[in-house]
Amino acid sequence: MRRFLDLADLSRDEVLDLLALAQSLQDKPQPNALAGKILGLVFFNPSLRTLASFQAGMSRLGGDSFVITPGQGTWQLETRLNAVMNGSSAEHIREGIPVLASYCDALGVRAFAEGRNLQADLAETLFGMIDGLCDKPLVNLESAVNHPCQALADWRTLDELRVPRRGKFVLSWAYHPRPLPLAVPAATLHMAAMRGMEVVVLRPEGFALPDALMEKARQAAAAAGGAVSETTDRAAALAGADVLYAKEWGTTTYYGDVEADARLRAELGDWCVRERWFAGAAPEAKLMHCLPVRRNVAVADEVLDGPRAVVKREAFNRLVVQMAVLHRMLA
Ligand code: CP
Repeated sequence: MRRFLDLADLSRDEVLDLLALAQSLQDKPQPNALAGKILGLVFFNPSLRTLASFQAGMSRLGGDSFVITPGQGTWQLETRLNAVMNGSSAEHIREGIPVLASYCDALGVRAFAEGRNLQADLAETLFGMIDGLCDKPLVNLESAVNHPCQALADWRTLDELRVPRRGKFVLSWAYHPRPLPLAVPAATLHMAAMRGMEVVVLRPEGFALPDALMEKARQAAAAAGGAVSETTDRAAALAGADVLYAKEWGTTTYYGDVEADARLRAELGDWCVRERWFAGAAPEAKLMHCLPVRRNVAVADEVLDGPRAVVKREAFNRLVVQMAVLHRMLA
């Protein structure tokens, strides 16, 4: 495997193979599998889980890693094509990415959406450029509209919890004081559809996921025997739900317009997930979130501290599935 950029690039059987490899590495550790191998990690945006779990996973497989956070102890990297570089960026990714790739055996890059132009972000313009500049195996650590490592970990978490393949999976918008990118909702939607679930996107007016993402998920659902729908009706969405996956994202109707987004979300403070949301759900329904989560803003303490929350298991599974990805790429 040379690229891990989008779960949709893999067949369902390839995903199941990766999950089986993750289980096997957990049951029978291979502490020397990646001896002598180096993983480079480039973070244009902050992280806790992705950074720590990739470094830990590489070490547990006997390999090594280095981390670059452009502009923090290293040169600021310019990403715009044809930029006149007379500002703060001393180096362009057109040199920086190939140079970093030449020092390692695989590269992981996190580069969030710019959040100004929806079509450019949907087209993964920046990550596509990084992909073209990297001649080593490349892992997407979260791009404009994708987070395949999170999606793979969440698939494993659903399997561990024995959530039925045809179970009801509600991806719900949750409140945040500012607009967040579409990467996790897009990746989560596709993962649940590809797993064959009955997926419902629950969101307020103004926050519909873009048609291109919904259509891609519908195709994955059709191939796996599942379904994808969307609604603004919380009670209908959560009736009989097995999983409520909470996630914050920005307005899509006024994408890139921070003031319009702020006006819309000013009325939406009650989109903080509370125990009463689960009144009509399956009795054992679970609460998932990729983390980080703002307590009592996106999800209430009563849910995060209760038996429904599996957020820490999701985070642990990042380590397990990423070791499988690294093993498949480098062993
Ligand atoms: N879920 C996730 O990717 O966490 P970090 O942003 O902390 O890496």
